[in-house]
Amino acid sequence: MKVLIVGSGGREHTIAWKVAQSPLVDKIYCAPGNAGIAQFAECVPIGAMEIEKLADFAASNAVDLTVIGMDDPLVAGVVDAFEAKGLRVFGPRKNAAILEGSKAFSKDLMKKYNIPTAGYETFEDPEAAIHYLENEAEFPIVLKADGLALGKGVLICNTLEEAKDGVKAIMLDKQFGSAGNRMVIEEFMTGREVSVLSFVDGKTIRIMTSAQDHKRAKDGDQGLNTGGMGTFSPSPFYTPEVDEFCHQYIYQATVDAMKTEGREFKGIIFFGLMLTPKGPRVLEYNARFGDPEAQVVIPRMKNDIVEVFEACIDGRLDQIDLEFEDNAAVCVVLASDGYPVSYKKGLPISGLESFDGKDGYYVFHAGTKFADDGATVLTNGGRVLGIVAKGADLKQARANAYEATQWVRFENKYMRNDIGRAIDEI
Ligand SMILES: Nc1ncnc2c1ncn2[C@@H]1O[C@H](COP(=O)(O)OP(=O)(O)O)[C@@H](O)[C@H]1O
Ligand SMILES: [Mg+2]
Repeated sequence: MKVLIVGSGGREHTIAWKVAQSPLVDKIYCAPGNAGIAQFAECVPIGAMEIEKLADFAASNAVDLTVIGMDDPLVAGVVDAFEAKGLRVFGPRKNAAILEGSKAFSKDLMKKYNIPTAGYETFEDPEAAIHYLENEAEFPIVLKADGLALGKGVLICNTLEEAKDGVKAIMLDKQFGSAGNRMVIEEFMTGREVSVLSFVDGKTIRIMTSAQDHKRAKDGDQGLNTGGMGTFSPSPFYTPEVDEFCHQYIYQATVDAMKTEGREFKGIIFFGLMLTPKGPRVLEYNARFGDPEAQVVIPRMKNDIVEVFEACIDGRLDQIDLEFEDNAAVCVVLASDGYPVSYKKGLPISGLESFDGKDGYYVFHAGTKFADDGATVLTNGGRVLGIVAKGADLKQARANAYEATQWVRFENKYMRNDIGRAIDEI
């Protein structure tokens, strides 16, 4: 098979690395890819949002399967464009990717089908939102821009003043662009967060092992929100009781609801859960692998991922049993100091070869490119590398991952030092 992977981050590197292990595959393309992916795939300079170009490339190069890593092209309809050309592609169509693309849609779906989530109201008029805040809201309260906002469209507001400023930022100043044409105002919940990824074939859902991410830039969950500074898997807080509750009230219910709505979902559903005192609640859905959740979940997966992708597309996921290793993995993101605000790019990276042949240690590239010499690897983003290690348990995996962070050097290298710290509490 020839497989095309769309995206350029650590998630896509991890997917490509796993696809490369499949005996079914003899050629991998990645668009646009990065310097890590280029070690075993042919990177083609087509952007993830150049949908027609991607489909043309797949058609003219006889690509057998395309896997979409990122949210924006899915929400924009990349899967529909591929299908229109008769191409096989893994991911939800536009009418199903809306599960991630519109928070108002997903909240309405959960309400209609009794899937546990925070209470909320939806607004299209900023005046009405402010009226609601002044008269009915309890604080803290959560404001969410409806559309995709690079993980920055959620504001937690402690006072009425903050919330009014938030409405202004989202709906009037359009800080998140058209994502703020609509807004969800939601009840504030408390509890631990867990991410659960799943494969879905339209009717059957198969849950992967759990994970937890660290969104803030600095130790102790301080600083600005980022794309993610690290992850660990499994989450010790995702107990058998939580799993049973979610199977009963959340997972299949979501898949069935989408089917009933005429929006059959095929692809990955990422359940962002909060384990509240009243039980698990859905914070949000994503329609693709998490980044950097993929980096700790996929290396623990025993199945041939290409077989699972194919089973999802063909609607025979019921014949697949997912299997995960009975161990743990930790990912520590190496960023460029100053991320997520401003940071230098183009700095040379050394030590990457230290990972060669080291079982259970991985370096997944998030933002890298080759220098003009075609050999030196340079930083090319705020998040540069994901250092991943496995271990018999979370503590061992964490120790291994932090050890491996020392193998790589670049100027302005920055990381959090407390990834997985929460596991010390249990
Ligand atoms: N109702 C809520 N109560 C408390 N915290 C919330 C609530 N909704 C979201 N959050 C916090 O905000 C983060 C981002 O919200 P989320 O809905 O996942 O949107 P996105 O990932 O698109 O930014 C969550 O991971 C959680 O920490
Ligand atoms: Mg989220």
